[in-house]
Amino acid sequence: MEHLMAVILAAGEGKRMKSKNSKVIHKICGKALVEWVVDAAKECGVKESVLVVGHRQDQIRECLGDKVAYAVQEQQLGTGHAVMQAQKYLEGKEGHVIVLYGDTPLITSSTIEKTIAFHKENKCSATVITADFADPSGYGRIVRDKNGDVLKIVEDKDANCEEKNITEINSGLYCFNIKDLLAGLSELNNDNKQGEFYLTDTLEILAKKGSKVGALKISEASEIFGINDRVQLAEAAELIRKRIVDMHMRAGVTLIDPASVFIDAGVVIGMDTIVYPGTYIEAGSKIGEDCIIGPNSRIVRSTIGNGSEINNSVIIESKVGMDTHVGPFAYLRPGSDIGSKVKIGDFVEVKKSIIGDNTKVSHLTYIGDAEVGSNVNLGCGVVVVNYDGKKKNKTVIGDNAFVGCNVNLISPVTVKDNAYVAAGSTITEEVPENALAIARSRQVIKEEWVTSKGMERGKK
Ligand code: UD1
Ligand code: CA
Repeated sequence: MEHLMAVILAAGEGKRMKSKNSKVIHKICGKALVEWVVDAAKECGVKESVLVVGHRQDQIRECLGDKVAYAVQEQQLGTGHAVMQAQKYLEGKEGHVIVLYGDTPLITSSTIEKTIAFHKENKCSATVITADFADPSGYGRIVRDKNGDVLKIVEDKDANCEEKNITEINSGLYCFNIKDLLAGLSELNNDNKQGEFYLTDTLEILAKKGSKVGALKISEASEIFGINDRVQLAEAAELIRKRIVDMHMRAGVTLIDPASVFIDAGVVIGMDTIVYPGTYIEAGSKIGEDCIIGPNSRIVRSTIGNGSEINNSVIIESKVGMDTHVGPFAYLRPGSDIGSKVKIGDFVEVKKSIIGDNTKVSHLTYIGDAEVGSNVNLGCGVVVVNYDGKKKNKTVIGDNAFVGCNVNLISPVTVKDNAYVAAGSTITEEVPENALAIARSRQVIKEEWVTSKGMERGKK
């Protein structure tokens, strides 16, 4: 059977990141750097990816789980040595292996596919992805013979003056025949300026044996851009962000100002939805068709139904139905399930609550740990008092209920279907169906109190 595998190198320390965390788990658009690479490989048909880990491998394992297999490189003795650690996964297999770096998240599946196709067509033992760089310093240089075949790759530190002038650089990304790679690795030594086992030397070893070594030069050099520090992280993020927003616009989403919209990988947005500036739509979110999202909104792991509008609001791990209006300045906290044709107005906070269809919560309200029915009206300033100082309690409000302004619902408490609660009430006991509850002291009038006390304010 022909295998297509990937070996992804991620054992290095990544010192320049200046971070307590492994470099490759830093995220771009909600996805770890190494995950971008793993997914690009997967998209072009790689069934098994082996990640070579070393520094902070516990964090990388936690991030990727069993999405990949792991090979441990205890000491970082070079890229060739790193690939050797994956040997047990490669042994006895026929087919091809692509070698990628965990810190080059911009590589696309289409470039990997092209490399594999080139490799197969030209019957190569090894194929390296290259690019022309105006300033090639720091990179390995591609040394070709008169016919253009690759003879070897020299590292910057080992290159002579003539070789240093070569502008075609090694991206560090390759496709190998599995067997040829293993044969090449078995002959590697570390006889070079850095005392490392260079993966690049396997190409020279294979070429000397008469095998064909190919090089595929790509024009989109940003794809092989590796990330070493946070400045480069931001540069790569900008490119990936652009790819994502372009993809959504091509699929029928209007972005008023694409540069100010941040959409994570994997987010789904329906056709004819309009996204206004200053909006973040984070991983795990799904937005329906014909929605208006933003400006200045943040949606995290949430689902928004067709035709809904989210204006200047924050929605976290919640669900919003169809044709519902949220905001401006609303806050939906985790576990909220808002129905269809609902209005959640300004300065309304909802936490872990269900709100039924056609219900209106128009302003200045807190709803926590509650179940609110459909066609309910909650007036301005209603507060569900869900916390008694020790634990959270549940409030239930039935269908068609009307709760007046400035009402406190002391949980646990129930307002039954079709009931009314008078404004200013503090409700501690169940309100029966069709009843009106008034829970406030009666108004007292003291006639002529102002004049009898000499308290007139308009008089000099
Ligand atoms: C390597 C190439 C160079 C190429 C450049 C492109 C070699 C010898 N040189 O150089 O020709 O132009 O990449 O960026 O291969 N890693 C390990 N274990 C190790 C060493 C490295 O896992 O022992 C990983 C690193 O984490 C990193 C990647 O391999 O992701 C590249 O290593 P790095 O040291 O940056 O290679 P360069 O010296 O830049
Ligand atoms: Ca490097």
